[in-house]
Amino acid sequence: LVNIAVLGSGKGSNFLSIAKAVSMGELPARICVVVSDNPEALIIKKANELGIPTAVLPCGKYKTWLEPWIEEELVRILKEYHTELVVLAGFMRVLKETFLNAFEGRTVNIHPSLLPAFKGKEAWKAALEACVAETGCTIHWVSKEVDGGKIIAQSRVPILPGDTPESLHARIQQAEHELYPKVLKDLCLDWIKKYAK
Ligand code: GAR
Repeated sequence: LVNIAVLGSGKGSNFLSIAKAVSMGELPARICVVVSDNPEALIIKKANELGIPTAVLPCGKYKTWLEPWIEEELVRILKEYHTELVVLAGFMRVLKETFLNAFEGRTVNIHPSLLPAFKGKEAWKAALEACVAETGCTIHWVSKEVDGGKIIAQSRVPILPGDTPESLHARIQQAEHELYPKVLKDLCLDWIKKYAK
């Protein structure tokens, strides 16, 4: 089993879809720790309910990224739980050098658009405002360029007449909940082939 750490700032619906796949034996992994930058995040509550270890990072001086000493703390926590793969599931801070030096090539993110279109926050709103016919979600490797790492998989979602930001985000999230466990399964199988002794 591959040790995966899930990082999130919000409601944790992607985390739950991954935890479900793990518990159904569909994913050769174990969730070793859930980490958040937000002590109030539902993802922490849900992980606690499932008996999965959790950690909350100090919030620091900035809203959109973590100072190097906090990234050091994050790396320390991930190593303490023997993390092999880091899974970002609605983690709303940009990860920088201190983290990437330790975990680049082992960290994936899910983004609610068909990258490279609509990078950044609330990408479903941007897609709706741009009046495009479809959007979707993207799973990609995390690199220095925000939302710009190598794409692993995408899933398309139509934009329907009358869609609101909420209805569109809900449709994208359904696609996310299907895609993330599938992609993680493939990544874990690759990982096991490569590194299992
Ligand atoms: C997801 O839709 C994810 O794609 C998005 O946050 C949501 C988290 O939902 N991530 C980003 O926008 C990253 N830039 P969840 O907490 O229910 O999994």
